[in-house]
Amino acid sequence: MHAVTVHVNGRAQRVVIDALAPLLRVLRDELDLMGTKEGCGSGDCGACTVLVDGLPVNSCLFFAVDADHREVTTIEGLAHDGVAHPLQRAFVEESGLQCGYCTPGMILAAAALLADDPDPTPERIRAALAGNLCRCTGYQSIVEAVRAAAVHVRDAAAAKPASGGVRRAVRPRA
Ligand code: FES
Ligand code: FES
Repeated sequence: MHAVTVHVNGRAQRVVIDALAPLLRVLRDELDLMGTKEGCGSGDCGACTVLVDGLPVNSCLFFAVDADHREVTTIEGLAHDGVAHPLQRAFVEESGLQCGYCTPGMILAAAALLADDPDPTPERIRAALAGNLCRCTGYQSIVEAVRAAAVHVRDAAAAKPASGGVRRAVRPRA
């Protein structure tokens, strides 16, 4: 067993875990953060996407020990002071979800994208979300939701240029 300290949504969490425990299991079973969904369990669907140091990872494959002393963001950590993140609002307003099972992972992958590219093309959005599968929407409304959120994020950044947020970097998931 290993003791690790993971900073989840801005809060340090110390857990004692098996060396091979996936981050997904620690988030859901140890920390009771049920927003992160398990789909395939094998890295194919993206439902379990969370951010580690601002980058999207499939938490079903990411060893929790590798998150030691790193920043993890789950869907529960996106809203601030009770105000939904622009992506959360846009997914609702643009009907970017139906059953909602893929939505936490979609939104976190999109958050990493917008942190890297505040004005992504539809093609870039589709590429960034290629690892996140949705069985309900047909994807077009998801792309429109991300585009709408991008406008809101840019407007907010213009009004408050010193605001923080997800680190600016995106790379392919393992
Ligand atoms: Fe992790 Fe499907 S549950 S990629
Ligand atoms: Fe149902 Fe995407 S909204 S899987």
